[in-house]
Amino acid sequence: MNYNAKILSADKDHVLLKNVGKIDPMSIDAYLKAGGYEGLKKALAMDPKKVIDEVSDSGLRGRGGANFPTGRKWTFTAGAKADQKYIICNADEGEPGTVKDRVLMEGDPHQMIEGIVIGAYAIGATKGFVYIRGEYRKSIATITKAIADAEKKNFLGKGILGSKFDFELRVVEGGGAYVCGDETALIESIEGKRGEPRMKPPFPPVVGLWGKPTIVNNVETLANVPHIIKNGAAWFTKKGPAGSPGTKIFMLVGDVNEPGVVETTFDHTPKDIVEKFGKGVDGGFKFAQIGGSSGNLFTADMMTNPMTYERMAEMKVSYGTGSIFVANETRNVVEFLSTVAEFFEHESCGKCTPCREGTHRISQIMEKFEFGEGTISDLDLLEELALVMKKASLCGCGQACVNPFLDALKNFKGEILAN
Ligand SMILES: Cc1cc2nc3c(=O)[nH]c(=O)nc-3n(C[C@H](O)[C@H](O)[C@H](O)COP(=O)(O)O)c2cc1C
Ligand code: SF4
Repeated sequence: MNYNAKILSADKDHVLLKNVGKIDPMSIDAYLKAGGYEGLKKALAMDPKKVIDEVSDSGLRGRGGANFPTGRKWTFTAGAKADQKYIICNADEGEPGTVKDRVLMEGDPHQMIEGIVIGAYAIGATKGFVYIRGEYRKSIATITKAIADAEKKNFLGKGILGSKFDFELRVVEGGGAYVCGDETALIESIEGKRGEPRMKPPFPPVVGLWGKPTIVNNVETLANVPHIIKNGAAWFTKKGPAGSPGTKIFMLVGDVNEPGVVETTFDHTPKDIVEKFGKGVDGGFKFAQIGGSSGNLFTADMMTNPMTYERMAEMKVSYGTGSIFVANETRNVVEFLSTVAEFFEHESCGKCTPCREGTHRISQIMEKFEFGEGTISDLDLLEELALVMKKASLCGCGQACVNPFLDALKNFKGEILAN
């Protein structure tokens, strides 16, 4: 089985990766043998409100990058009055260096599907979609087969497992635009429109797909749900430090001796993860970018803080999707930033002026530095643009894509000017 990512953490510490590489992902019977769909059976015997309470009490937060408490989000949709509600699994996974959702979909597809069905039951949705990045051909094939198998066993469809609950799930292929990972752009895309973010509020849990209350959750978030229902909220809160419960899948990429995927608790520091699981840096450590191309730059002193929500908030940074790109001493900061600038210039959807113009101007400035023609006034302009984009952009793309530039101005200004 090839997931294009080596699993570096130990089997005994795995919850989400427990079955990955161990069972045949194309066999629903293998999943059932491993205890699969027990969470759904338990959920269907509970009141939907109790299911939401259990998820709220577990402290599970979204794993798509924004860390929003999952139970709270579900409460909004459950409480909304509507003739139709939807649940969408966000499998767009466009953040560079991020492959965890693919590993989960291709290695253990039913875990995620079980989480979606439980979520649908809890909020009262009868229809759902898995929005998968179009390039993920194997994920699309694996999830499509898993849905067909789940329908045959009545884990999906009418009167699920003898209950009064009906739920239909379909795969939608995305076109590979970074911005379609934003939940409102993703909704527009499913509606058949150009994938551009919507103005918020209203937020999707109240006004979402075709104007109906809609939950959008990440693959990894939903994969946690069957375990929480099966084992109880208290079991989940006991994993990891207070306030940051459960496990998280981190991805090691760049100049590490052993790139791959790591499932661990939040009390680990990025340095632990690089050294313990990634066998250290290939060359001396210069910086790490955590959370994809819009992620913050971590200097050596920042790498020794645990990745709890609390500590990250104190440091005014985020671990985003959990990818850790390590840059060794040979990396040129200007080249690195130019690559990031080009990526966002290309991916900006152009709907709002700060991001459309700002990403283009930042790219031009970085090009000047690449040719050794940049000046201090270019850096002043870069900072001004970045601060305006952070405040005035319509969606998280324009707001967050400036993070690495602002961090580089703090830590590598001399090196940029000397280029
Ligand atoms: C530009 C942009 C791209 C995003 N890409 C993704 C993505 O690929 N996958 C994802 O789950 N969330 C992505 N998000 C976050 C989603 O909008 C949303 O917060 C998330 O799917 C909610 O799920 P969660 O609460 O389970 O994390 C993106 C947000 C923005 C602004
Ligand atoms: S911030 Fe960028 S990606 Fe988001 S809506 Fe504006 S132009 Fe589009």
